[in-house]
Amino acid sequence: MAIEREDSARGITTVVIPAAGMGTRFLPATKTVPKELLPVVDTPGIELIAEEAASVGARRLAVITAPDKQEVMRHFEAFPQLVETLDARGKDEQVSKVKRANQLIHPVAVEQEKPLGLGHAVGLAEEVLGEDEDSFAVMLPDDIVLPATVMAEMARVRADLGGSVLCAFEVPREQTYNYGVFDVEDTADPAVKKVVGMVEKPAVEDAPSNLVATGRYLLDRKIFDALRRIKPGKGGELQLTDAIELLIEEGEPVHVVVHKGKRHDLGNPGGYIPANVDFGLRDEKYGPTLYKAIKQIMAEYEAEHGLS
Ligand code: G1P
Repeated sequence: MAIEREDSARGITTVVIPAAGMGTRFLPATKTVPKELLPVVDTPGIELIAEEAASVGARRLAVITAPDKQEVMRHFEAFPQLVETLDARGKDEQVSKVKRANQLIHPVAVEQEKPLGLGHAVGLAEEVLGEDEDSFAVMLPDDIVLPATVMAEMARVRADLGGSVLCAFEVPREQTYNYGVFDVEDTADPAVKKVVGMVEKPAVEDAPSNLVATGRYLLDRKIFDALRRIKPGKGGELQLTDAIELLIEEGEPVHVVVHKGKRHDLGNPGGYIPANVDFGLRDEKYGPTLYKAIKQIMAEYEAEHGLS
């Protein structure tokens, strides 16, 4: 318990990872492999998120899983036999790769029996939070936000201004219908805006701005009470956005850090492939060869399509 209290003082102890989705956009791969275990180069997306969570000092990963997605939790086990076999063969690099997820953070599974929405999934995490945790983070495993330091910035903003702090990203107005969209006012800091309204996936003409929620949330514990009071919203699901809007209406402080870095969407092949190219090019082992291969593929494609 003493350790937990010390961590809470630093800000973030628990990171909630909603991972109960069916991954329909990745069928047929997701018939047997959960979307969160698909690799970026060689590392499953959920391990990248666990690394990010550990890097901000979090100790507990509350993974919201569906009843048939136990493999996601298995990824965080110790695999002693595999380690022993690799060890015996002198494969040190592979040994450390196998051990990494298990050593990063303490994972706890929370089962979501039915897909009732992101708001419902986040609400389930209340049972694993310590009594002294007055806030917690949510990281959506579809969203890779780079550099991964944005959550630490969000924690600084919460320490200054209290309440909940989210990560905002600027997108072209015509893309806003895919996201939770913020209505904001300026603060003294140009990178921080006060949120005065939030709406889930509005029609483009109704979007209050082109600042949208990416998958990083630092939420005040009061969100659980708000989540109990919302009704099904967009798509008939319980939306986290609607609970945040309720907090705003009730005068609770909500701010965004406007993220100027990069973002990858691992939630569909159209975002997953560029993420692999980007991480692959930056990979020491594969980068140089991949660079040449991509140039070759591009040249062939351009010739075929009269683009060169
Ligand atoms: C969720 C949230 C949305 C947010 C988005 C970020 O939507 O409901 O507010 O902008 O993640 O990726 P989803 O993409 O799960 O439909």
